[in-house]
Amino acid sequence: LAIAGARNDLTGLRVVVTAGGTREPLDPVRFLGNRSSGRQGAQLAIAAADRGAEVTLVAAHMDADALAAASAHRRIDITRVGTALELQHAVTAAAAGAQVVVMAAAVADYRPARVSDTKLTKEGGDGTLTLELVENPDIVAGLAAHRPAGQTVVAFAAETEPDAVARLERARRKRARKGVDLLVVNEVGWRAGFEADHNAIVIVGSEGEVAAEFSGTKRETADAVWDGVQTLRARVD
Ligand code: CTP
Ligand code: CA
Repeated sequence: LAIAGARNDLTGLRVVVTAGGTREPLDPVRFLGNRSSGRQGAQLAIAAADRGAEVTLVAAHMDADALAAASAHRRIDITRVGTALELQHAVTAAAAGAQVVVMAAAVADYRPARVSDTKLTKEGGDGTLTLELVENPDIVAGLAAHRPAGQTVVAFAAETEPDAVARLERARRKRARKGVDLLVVNEVGWRAGFEADHNAIVIVGSEGEVAAEFSGTKRETADAVWDGVQTLRARVD
C-alpha cells in the first residue's frame, strides 16, 4: 500500500528538536519570556517522526495544543525545560547520541542576574525598577563546536529586519558565527511567524548560499527543513 506523500527517509536517524520559548525567573511568580508558540518546533518533531526518525523533543514553554500534538506521537520522546540553562543541559545530553540537532527554540538572550527568593515588591520603591541581566550561553554554537563526527546542526533565526537583502546578510553572519550547517531564517513581525499557521523561510547553507526557499504551512515548512537536511547529508556522505 503506497500512501501519497508518505516517506520513511529518516528511518534509522536519531534527531533532537528544541522548541518553544524559555522562561527566565525573576522571583517565585514572575519570569522573562517570549512569544514563541512552539508550533513550528512541534511540527519539526512530528514531521521527523512521521518520516521514521526517533525524536527527542526538548520542549521549553509551548502552547498546549502544540505540545499535545507532539506528545501523541510514539516516536517522540519529550523532555520539558524552563530556562535556557535547563535547555542547554537537556539538549547537550540528548545530542550526544543524535545524527541531527535542530534548534528551533526561542532561547532568552539574557536572564536576570539574581533570582529573588521572595516576590519583588513595590514597597519602599521610587517608581522605577532596574533589572540587571546576564547573557545566556549560545547553546547551538556550543553544540556545533563540540559535535560528534557526522552530526548535522541546524539553527533557526526569527528576524524582524524588513529588507530582504539586509536580512540575508545578517543571516550569513549569524550562521558563520554559530558554526552551524544550516540556518533557517524567517521574518517575524508582531504576529506573522509566531502565531500564524503559515511560515516563510530561507535556508542559508555553510557557504552562505541560499540552499532553499519555502513557504507553506508549518508542517510543510518542517518537511522542507528535513528535505534540506537530507540534501546536505547526502552530499556529505
Ligand atoms: N540560540 C542559542 N542560544 C542562545 C540564543 C540563541 O542556541 N543563547 C539559538 C536559537 O535557538 C536559534 C539560533 O541560536 O536556533 C539563532 O537565534 P537568534 O536569537 O536569532 O540568535 P542570537 O545569536 O541570539 O542573535 P540576536 O542577537 O539576533 O538575537
Ligand atoms: Ca537571540
